[in-house]
This record gives sequence, C-alpha cells and structure tokens, in this order.
Amino acid sequence: MSTYVAASERYDSIQYRRCGASGVRIPAISLGLWQNFGTDAPMERIREIAHYAFDQGICHFDLANNYGPIPGAAEENFGKLLQSSFKPYRDELFISSKAGYLMWPGPYGEWGSRKYLISSLDQSLKRMKLDYVDLFYTHRFDPNTPLEETLQALVDIVRQGKALYVGVSRYPHDAALKAYEYLKESKTPCLLFQDRYNIIDRMPEKEGLLDMSKEQGAGFISFSPLQQGLLTNRYLNGVPEGSRMTKRDTSLPSKVLTPQLLEALRGLNALAERRGQSLAQMSLSWLLADPRITSVLIGASSLAQLKDNLKSLNNTSFTAEELQEIQRISAPIQLFDR
Ligand SMILES: NC(=O)c1ccc[n+]([C@@H]2O[C@H](COP(=O)([O-])OP(=O)(O)OC[C@H]3O[C@@H](n4cnc5c(N)ncnc54)[C@H](OP(=O)(O)O)[C@@H]3O)[C@@H](O)[C@H]2O)c1
Repeated sequence: MSTYVAASERYDSIQYRRCGASGVRIPAISLGLWQNFGTDAPMERIREIAHYAFDQGICHFDLANNYGPIPGAAEENFGKLLQSSFKPYRDELFISSKAGYLMWPGPYGEWGSRKYLISSLDQSLKRMKLDYVDLFYTHRFDPNTPLEETLQALVDIVRQGKALYVGVSRYPHDAALKAYEYLKESKTPCLLFQDRYNIIDRMPEKEGLLDMSKEQGAGFISFSPLQQGLLTNRYLNGVPEGSRMTKRDTSLPSKVLTPQLLEALRGLNALAERRGQSLAQMSLSWLLADPRITSVLIGASSLAQLKDNLKSLNNTSFTAEELQEIQRISAPIQLFDR
C-alpha cells in the first residue's frame, strides 16, 4: 500500500515548454534513468530521487529498453515505482522509452527493424506494467535498415495505441530531415529530437540539428547536459570514489579527463562562482537560456545533485561577456567520443 502523496504545490515553480508545434508541454528539466536507477542502486534512493522530482513538477521521466545495469532494470524499477507510488498520477506523467541498442541476442535484438522495435516496446510495457508510453523513440540511426521501415514501425506503434507520440534520437542531419518529413506525411509528427548538447559538446549546433528541429516543428531535448558529470565540480580535484568515472564498464572513462579539459572545466567553474552558481547550475542555465531547447534531460545519483540542478532555473540570463568567456573556454575542446 502506497504512502506517497505528491506535493500539492508541484506545478507552482518549474517552467513547462511546448514540444515544437505540438500540444504537449514538458518540464524545462526532465529526469533520465539511463544510470543510477538499475540493479546497482538501492530502491530507497531511487524512490527518494523520483518522488522529489515529481514533487517539484518534473513529470517527464526518460527511459529506454537497455537502461540499467542490467539492461531492462531501470524500466523494471520504474514499474515498481509506478505500482507503489505513481499509479494514481499516471495521467500527470510523461514517460518515454526507446529502442535501438543491444537488448537481446540474435539479429532482432538491436538497431531499427520493425521486428525489433515492436517487440522491444512490448517488452518495455511489460517491464513498466504500462498499457502505453507517452513517447517512443528510435534510439539510433540504423544504416542497414530502410529508414521507412523504422519510421513506419513508429507510426504503427502509435496507431496500435502503444505510444502517444514518437521521437528520434541521435540521427545524423540528413536522416533526421527525412524522418521529420516521413513522420509529418504520416500524420505522426516527431515530437522531440533527442541528442547530446551541452557547453562542451556543440555538435547539434554545428550540424544544424538544433535549428532543424525548430524549423520542422519538433522540440529538442538535450541529454547529458552535464557531459555525464564533467560539467560539475565532481572531477575538479581528482576522481571521487563512487563517481561515474569509477564504475565498472563506465560510459565515462578516465581518459576523457585530459589536462586541457580539466583546465577548461576549472575556468568554467571560476565563471560559475562569479555568477553565484555551481558549475552544474551554470551549465544547465546556459542550455535553458536557449529558446530552441525544450528540456534539459539530467541524470542524478543523489537527491543533493537533483536539488543543486533545479536551482539552475533561478538564473538563466547571461551577459554578453559571460557568453563570450564560455565560448572562448569551450571552443578548443575536443571530445573523445564524437
Ligand atoms: N538518447 C541517447 O542516446 C541518450 C544517451 C545518454 C543519455 N540519455 C538520456 O539523458 C539522461 C541524462 O544523461 P546523463 O546521466 O549522462 O546526464 P548528466 O546530467 O550529464 O550526468 C549525470 C551525472 O552527472 C553527475 N551530476 C549530476 N548533477 C550533479 C551535480 N549537481 N553535482 C555534481 N555531479 C552531478 C552525476 O554523476 P555521478 O554518478 O558521478 O554522481 C550524474 O550521474 C539519461 O538518463 C538518459 O535519459 C540519452
């Protein structure tokens, strides 16, 4: 029996931004469950972070079939949360999932075939004990499957009532453009384009993906807005035990932390301090200041991090000098995995 009762003032402080030309608004800050919500995280902490997020108006939770560890565990844990506390609030929640990366062995367990996407979403719904997700994404571009096959599977998923909207994640420019056009013609327009974008990873800006989503009437949700924790005070004075960088099979190997990057992060941190912000807050505020960004999709391994990050909403204005300094510091940075 659940004892959770959502805060009555939950919609009073956070902003909600419209996803492109759609009728849907999502919070300016959304919570992602890629890491910190799998089998390696205590359920108590998962519950604490998710409850606090919802109490602050973060009603968009982003998942994918493979989020864990182990793959599927984040959806399973979110399913438990839905059962134990969020069930009465289902219609207030905007839940997304995705398929694209390796989920099960054999030729149908990854990429973009109709066979994979449809069976994967069925599995996700079972894990979360949901009848439908609000948004279903193609998680990555599949160069070996006709784009029409992937996109038509998304359209059919919506027609079957298993998702209300569709989204596209990590597509290169030309494939993204074709996807927008196909989905629009099929009367199932792309709701959100999801890509990594932050102070030190400007690729979507350089490739025109940010402007394209706006022109095409889709929203843009930026994932890893803190570059997995680099754009915080986490690594400024060494690599702390328990941080993402120290985890087994980490997505953030220590080789990324070059002396050049560390120097840049320290420069950004000094600027954040002059603004009266933490580096995490300034990094999120910088994104929130861009009208092309619908939402920043954060991760958090503790309640304290989530609280810190939410304060980014309080100061989203930058002087021209501050923006120039951010540009000067970040421009020379070369990231290892782009
Ligand atoms: N579409 C895609 O292909 C794709 C790919 C990646 C992510 N995503 C989505 O984006 C979401 C967020 O990604 P992400 O987790 O990489 O985002 P992120 O916000 O860039 O990084 C989160 C990590 O940063 C650290 N952190 C967060 N706030 C902090 C603070 N205030 N102070 C110090 N450290 C802080 C924590 O690291 P520690 O764990 O070290 O504490 C936390 O786990 C994912 O959950 C997922 O939903 C999508």
